[in-house]
Amino acid sequence: MAEVIWGLATSHVPAIGAAMDNGKTEDAYWKPLFDGYAPARAWMAEHRPDVAVIVYNDHANAVDLDLIPTFGIGTAESYEIADEGWGPRPVPPVIGDPELSEHLVRELVDGGFDIATFNRLKVDHGLTVPLSVYCPEPGDAWPCKVVPLLVNVLQYPQPTAARCLALGEALGRAIRSYPKDIKVAVFGTGGMSHQLAGARAGLINQRFDRMFLEKIEHDPQALAALSREEYMEQAGTEGLELIMWLVMRGALGDDIVRIHDTYHVPASNTAAALALFEVTGASRTARAAA
Ligand code: DHB
Ligand code: FE
Repeated sequence: MAEVIWGLATSHVPAIGAAMDNGKTEDAYWKPLFDGYAPARAWMAEHRPDVAVIVYNDHANAVDLDLIPTFGIGTAESYEIADEGWGPRPVPPVIGDPELSEHLVRELVDGGFDIATFNRLKVDHGLTVPLSVYCPEPGDAWPCKVVPLLVNVLQYPQPTAARCLALGEALGRAIRSYPKDIKVAVFGTGGMSHQLAGARAGLINQRFDRMFLEKIEHDPQALAALSREEYMEQAGTEGLELIMWLVMRGALGDDIVRIHDTYHVPASNTAAALALFEVTGASRTARAAA
């Protein structure tokens, strides 16, 4: 049976990818951020999953604003890198796992989550930057297959934080019920506090971010109880991306250990963070979790 082995929460700021693509990671502006990633990257390099389920949002690059599914799962053999205006990022193609995708869609729909399927999808910085945070030098190929799980954080009404946590719990059960012996990591992406437009553009709320970073480990219910308006008020309009961390957190189960975290302000307009959790014995597999 499949196991959920770890969960990674990480910001997906496009400039973090651009810094890597353009050899700027040692520049004074970027070095502290990338130094903060180092212990997590070293640990993840020793604990490679077969597949990463990456919970992310498209930023109107591949998914037109004419049609916005609340939740979706990519079911393709591979995913092209989106051109966001300055050419696709120079990173390897993203290879999918259609069989696992179909299993997850079926289990989630049967469990009451009406998931849209993306049989063709170009992936933007929301997915590729977290992959680069995980694996900075992939060479010709990423070290794992990827199943994209999309969440609408752009257009009102976005799903509630509580619904995202519940989706994550169902996702964890669905992964653990997959009959193949594979290791799966789950990524929750976006955040932390940021607002890119309007009168409050540039907003950062370190107090809220620190509270969220702490509670995501043992009290995700407290974060699930916040309304979307509270997220936007506290963390900025784009800070609402943090609800995607709750999908990841729900998939991990109760038995987790925090391996590493780091918080850095600013990365572009954003308070950037990373938090890495290992899933331990009792939550890793279906039998132990039952
Ligand atoms: C930035 C952050 C984001 O989450 C995003 O999707 C785009 C830009 C930024 O801080 O520049
Ligand atoms: Fe974003």
